[in-house]
Amino acid sequence: MVNAEARSGSRPQLSRRLLLGSALALTACKGRAQAPAMPSGPLPPLRQAAPFSVGAAINVGALDDPAYTGLLLAEFDQVTADWQMKMEVILNPDGGFDFTQPDAVAGFAARHGLRLHGHNLIWYTYRPPAFERLAGDRAAFAAAYRNYILAVAGRYRGQAVGWDVVNEPVAEDGIGYRDCLWRQVLGMEYVARALHDAREAAPDAVLFVNDYNLESNPNKLAGFMRLAEQLLSAGAPLGGLGTQAHLTVDTQPGQVRACIRTLATLGLPIHVSELDVSTRGRRLDFSDPASRLDKQARLVGETAEAFAALPERQRYALTTWGVRDQDSWLRRAPNAGDGSDRPLLFDDAGAPKPAAWAFVAAVGRGS
Ligand code: XIL
Repeated sequence: MVNAEARSGSRPQLSRRLLLGSALALTACKGRAQAPAMPSGPLPPLRQAAPFSVGAAINVGALDDPAYTGLLLAEFDQVTADWQMKMEVILNPDGGFDFTQPDAVAGFAARHGLRLHGHNLIWYTYRPPAFERLAGDRAAFAAAYRNYILAVAGRYRGQAVGWDVVNEPVAEDGIGYRDCLWRQVLGMEYVARALHDAREAAPDAVLFVNDYNLESNPNKLAGFMRLAEQLLSAGAPLGGLGTQAHLTVDTQPGQVRACIRTLATLGLPIHVSELDVSTRGRRLDFSDPASRLDKQARLVGETAEAFAALPERQRYALTTWGVRDQDSWLRRAPNAGDGSDRPLLFDDAGAPKPAAWAFVAAVGRGS
């Protein structure tokens, strides 16, 4: 069930002294290549500092770790399953459904009064055997497609406040759209179909298309906006735009702000849906670790400030892709290197990093 407090937007008041103190501490560090000095005193919980929902991708393996759940519940008021609600988990090879894992995530969210964001219904990466078999029969394929969306979105109807209905539809170069099983059989209308089916199954959920590299690749942002405009003008029930925001410390200052502003021009709610800032960067980086945490903090601050500056009705949520550094997917990815990435707002031990302080300071500035 949806957290009434989160829905109504009423939040406990923050200590003004704490906010000012952390904002000043960060401002004082501007222009220095050092990590911002950590202000004294405790960090106010992100969920209380922000005038919007603050989400986290949930690490189900860590749910029996009280240190993890304590931090998650203290800081965040919305969760996204990082894997458990995907088709590759739910859809069996024979075409049947297994809801054990998504139900576990939804149950956790309900027990703790967290908003649940559904992720995701349709994703280009997966070519399930149960659909491959139907690829030669368009009508049967379309019926199974519809049936899957109705079943999954319908199961969490009234609980999931939103869904990433189609994840990552824009091609890597941003010029066209992803080649995938769904498009091969249904054509580009696979996106609008999914939105219509999701609307039927979950009338109150905000329905998103969600993509990445929108801040760093102007072609991709343009392609994403074009798709959104086409969907809206065709009457598809597109309800929101998700920008994953998987950043690196090399992301250029100003890019995230510009991206959020562009996305907002259509007037739809925005979800910063998977924020993390890899400290490994994309280029060889010989800078010291503290300066990388400083860059990370500035990027998180920019993101939070730009998001907070949106009109209230456009602030769906800002979600980080994990809670502590040790839980990040970037530690487990095939190209994780030596596993030393520190992409999130809380360190391995759960202590707030400069990025967490930057977030709190920025949401005060942005709104
Ligand atoms: C990642 C998860 O974090 C991993 O646990 C999983 O193995 C692969 O997917 N963009 C998305 C997310 O939309 O679903 C991805 O999550 C990260 C990139």
